[in-house]
Amino acid sequence: MKMSMVYDTIRWEEKAIFKAAEQRGIELKMVDAKDMDMDFDRPVPDSFGVATLQRCTSYYRGLHSTAFLEYKKQLVVNDLQTIINAGNKMLTSLALVANGVPTPYTSVSTSYETAMKQFAEKFHGKAVIKPVTGSWGRMVALLNDPEAAMAVLEDREYMYPLYSIFYMQEYVNRPPRDIRTFVIGDRVVGGIYRYQPEGDWRTNAAIGGRVEKCEITPEIEKISIKAANSVGKGVFGIDIMESDRGYLVHEVNSTTEFKNTVRVAQVDIPGEILDYVTEAAE
Ligand SMILES: Nc1ncnc2c1ncn2[C@@H]1O[C@H](COP(=O)(O)OP(=O)(O)O)[C@@H](O)[C@H]1O
Ligand SMILES: [Mg+2]
Repeated sequence: MKMSMVYDTIRWEEKAIFKAAEQRGIELKMVDAKDMDMDFDRPVPDSFGVATLQRCTSYYRGLHSTAFLEYKKQLVVNDLQTIINAGNKMLTSLALVANGVPTPYTSVSTSYETAMKQFAEKFHGKAVIKPVTGSWGRMVALLNDPEAAMAVLEDREYMYPLYSIFYMQEYVNRPPRDIRTFVIGDRVVGGIYRYQPEGDWRTNAAIGGRVEKCEITPEIEKISIKAANSVGKGVFGIDIMESDRGYLVHEVNSTTEFKNTVRVAQVDIPGEILDYVTEAAE
């Protein structure tokens, strides 16, 4: 079987998927998104095979190359609508709330003035602000006094317009860790706890905290699947916090890194992803 993978950087994950493809006798064509010539008048070359796995680290490269391929009738995992929903935290939150998935209380505004008002009146002086598009914990800030909030929110007003979409969320009083589960199709294949490192309140692996295997209980399984289904279909990393109101989903990631999950939870994520894409292509 012939398939392709669109990437822009080769990480441990892309190498592992390539290796798993070799083991399965899948001919996996590696397509560097930076070399793609997206000519609207030409069909997708046969060498892309029956399906394309989207693995770009850049959200915008992934989004635009997927749009091109999908409109050219190529099957892409994850699909365009799923990437759109998962790639924007506001769209993700709206989908979670609409589908009854427990999630932190969130409110959005599009001006500094309204954001400051929300900070004081709705969040009572303590909130988390996040760029609607971003990852690795970048620019996710904890605002816990009015002067700091003024500084951060005002700065964002002068950045690229996307940063003036003020996505504000209650700070969840959680243990110094969160849960990352991995959903492929309609199954949770594994999970890890991610601990915040000393000196930071965020638990992203990119920031450098330690990780530990998380047993997938029926409750964790249920909320993970429900969160994934709310956003779309395919391959997801679900971020979950443990709160005094139970589990809360704070993010649904598409094109996720999984090196730590494979190492700690001992699950064959690269193989499972390829099996899922193979099945989707049949
Ligand atoms: N509402 C919140 N309360 C407490 N901690 C949070 C909250 N939202 C995010 N965090 C912490 O910040 C990290 C990054 O936030 P997240 O929404 O996952 O954005 P990113 O796309 O950068 O991963 C989370 O993994 C978690 O540790
Ligand atoms: Mg996250």
